[in-house]
Amino acid sequence: MVTINKIISMKQKEKIVCLTAYDYPTAKILDESGIDIILVGDSAANVFAGEKTTLPITMTEMLYHTRVVTRAVRHSLVISDMPFLSYQVSISQAVYNAGRFLKAGARAVKIEGGKSVVEIIKRLVELGIPVMGHLGLTPQSIHKFGGYKLQGTDEASARNMITDAKLLESAGCFAIVLEKIPSRLAEKITTELTIPTIGIGAGPHCDGQILVFHDIVGLFEEFQPKFVKQYAQVGAEIRRAVLQYKDEVKKGVFPDQEHSY
Ligand code: KIV
Repeated sequence: MVTINKIISMKQKEKIVCLTAYDYPTAKILDESGIDIILVGDSAANVFAGEKTTLPITMTEMLYHTRVVTRAVRHSLVISDMPFLSYQVSISQAVYNAGRFLKAGARAVKIEGGKSVVEIIKRLVELGIPVMGHLGLTPQSIHKFGGYKLQGTDEASARNMITDAKLLESAGCFAIVLEKIPSRLAEKITTELTIPTIGIGAGPHCDGQILVFHDIVGLFEEFQPKFVKQYAQVGAEIRRAVLQYKDEVKKGVFPDQEHSY
């Protein structure tokens, strides 16, 4: 079983491989394939539920995804994303909601942001709730950014991100996701931290990599960021199967003797 300590010890020794999952069958395949971290991401709002942003997803929905994913997992470290407004209002609400993810079977939570969430993270870690940080293009702040733009491109914002990364490390985060930032900035943050960095659109120098499962298998066809590599075209294969099924039922070819009692 992959533990938090195992993830920390992998820095600079072995790349940490992470993917998202929101349902039982997908989580079972990822777990059996030896994926180190399965993130129950709030990207479920986009690729599972068809929302434009991650903002609408609720605690109830994220807890449901967490329960079905953890039911399938024997090996991977399952981390749940704390959804928008589940941790920002007060430290006590953050503790309560993070605790609910652990009760649902997750072994850590992920929180977006830097300096503004440091006190929240410190309290969670103090209470035994492991936290993964998330810097760069943090999708819950999409309206502040005004779009899914590359972050940390000017000197001041790059410097702020390095400061934030160090603050998250000293608050007790065991790893930090770096999303959509220049490779050189990700390399600098990775070198300056003792905890692992997990990149998504952050180049080859991070200690690990995360992508959204639906993106790498071609199951979400509406939008494809440059940093995604597609390893299969599952959407096209499902479409082919559905059309064949439709055709066979219409023509009376299915069900046949073989599939009847
Ligand atoms: O919600 C998500 O899937 C994420 C990652 C892709 C990092 O936050």
